[in-house]
Amino acid sequence: MDEVFGPDNFVNEIVWQRVSAHSDAGRFGIIHDTIYYYGPAGRTWNPQRTELNQKYLEQFFDQVEESSGRKYSRSDLMASGLRNGETGKSWRGINPGERGNHWKVAVSTLEQWDAEGRIHWPKTAGVPRLKRYLDEAVAQGGTAQDIWTDLRPIHNQSQELLGYPTQKPENLIERIIASSTNPGDLVLDCFIGSGTTAAVAQKLGRRWIGCDINKGAIQTTAKRLQGVMREQAQALAAANSQGELVARDDAPTAPCQLSFSTWRVNDYDLHIQHNEAVELACQHLGLTRTRTDPYFDGTRASLLAKIIPLNHPLTPLDLEALRTELKNRPEEERDILVVSLGQEHKAREWVAQYNHNRPVNKIHLTELRTDRKAGGFIKHEPMSVQAHARREGQGADARLVVQIDDVVSPSIIARLDLQEGIFRASIPDWRAVVDCVLIDAQHDGEVFNVALADVPTRKQDLVAGRYELPAPPTGATVALKIIDMLGEECVLRLQP
Ligand SMILES: C[S@@+](CC[C@H](N)C(=O)[O-])C[C@H]1O[C@@H](n2cnc3c(N)ncnc32)[C@H](O)[C@@H]1O
Repeated sequence: MDEVFGPDNFVNEIVWQRVSAHSDAGRFGIIHDTIYYYGPAGRTWNPQRTELNQKYLEQFFDQVEESSGRKYSRSDLMASGLRNGETGKSWRGINPGERGNHWKVAVSTLEQWDAEGRIHWPKTAGVPRLKRYLDEAVAQGGTAQDIWTDLRPIHNQSQELLGYPTQKPENLIERIIASSTNPGDLVLDCFIGSGTTAAVAQKLGRRWIGCDINKGAIQTTAKRLQGVMREQAQALAAANSQGELVARDDAPTAPCQLSFSTWRVNDYDLHIQHNEAVELACQHLGLTRTRTDPYFDGTRASLLAKIIPLNHPLTPLDLEALRTELKNRPEEERDILVVSLGQEHKAREWVAQYNHNRPVNKIHLTELRTDRKAGGFIKHEPMSVQAHARREGQGADARLVVQIDDVVSPSIIARLDLQEGIFRASIPDWRAVVDCVLIDAQHDGEVFNVALADVPTRKQDLVAGRYELPAPPTGATVALKIIDMLGEECVLRLQP
């Protein structure tokens, strides 16, 4: 966190009680997690309300009102310092000025409180004080502090529970997002897991980006968000039809968007042995493979090449290892070519600094996917879809029929082939590779507005493949989005 956000941006530490009890033999049960809060100066800050713990408060509300049995605590009616005017006056024979004090409120307010029985009069010596009732304090709640004990964990029968081992309850994420962002702001969770952050951001009218290295997580998140958006779209349509689009206190936060896209940005799940990868990369870049050097993999003209394992992007750690290696080879004068699949920003900065004023062993970087000359190492074969849309019927009864005929997902076939070993995978029904189908009947060319969503809820259910909707105006473009079981999507534009 310090590396990513900078240690100066550390704000504070929050303790979140995530369960009520845990039996850990031989020690106090561990029932909390720690949240580190980072943020720049001038960050958005919205204080959050919280429930108060009545049992804990009772020790401070130690007085009992005889007439009602209500518990209360006493707070001062006077503050130090002399004042003129209303708050400096004598009241009921008590002159606060004699003690160098003044009343905290005007005498008229003291009168009103006393009439309501809110003033505690001491039986013997002492000054009157204000009663603060326990029931009122509990009903009013408090401002959330740095210990959070009021957030209910996800019940194990709850619909919210998606069976994800480290899933966080929505109310926890809600507090974090609501306190640090405003509607319309952008929320990033780069380890999205089951999608809790995105779901809460969407419900709170924020925009969001979620990333995960695991396709199952992308799939779970995509499905969850489609559900959230469908409910929001239905609520909006219902409010629209009742002409209810007036601001109400209980009105749901207007969603920022009712669709999202899935992007494939890396290929670190490349199932390939390092040795094979080195071979292929050497061929791709025209390097002569060196088999005798325990560290470097090849040469090209006067360059010595190192191929970083393709299962991760180049990091400063890889570069530190290279620096150590070069220190042990003081005779080596060649420049170095470092080949990788992806690069961390910090790695590029590292190299720029390292190369500065260096006469020998300068480092040159080649990135296999995007490099202008040497990129294109990985070719991703996208999903292909055959589908058509047509109009049926006339006038008010006109219908739009969208029919999907075939879907081929090379990534899924490759993944299945890998599992099957020597057998070729066969997929008898295209619908088995499709996770969901979305239709925008009147696509504006930019935002995908979901008019129909076919998202089977149970694992064994398949999408329908044929859809009927009210026909859009003539000339409208129909957009069809198909998301496969690995979260890859394909958007087709059809002219009915
Ligand atoms: C602890 S889970 C997140 C759980 C999430 N907060 C929730 O409430 O569901 C961590 C996630 O990070 C993902 N992950 C791990 N390493 C990653 C990486 N290098 N890049 C992207 N995602 C990664 C994992 O696949 C996993 O889904």
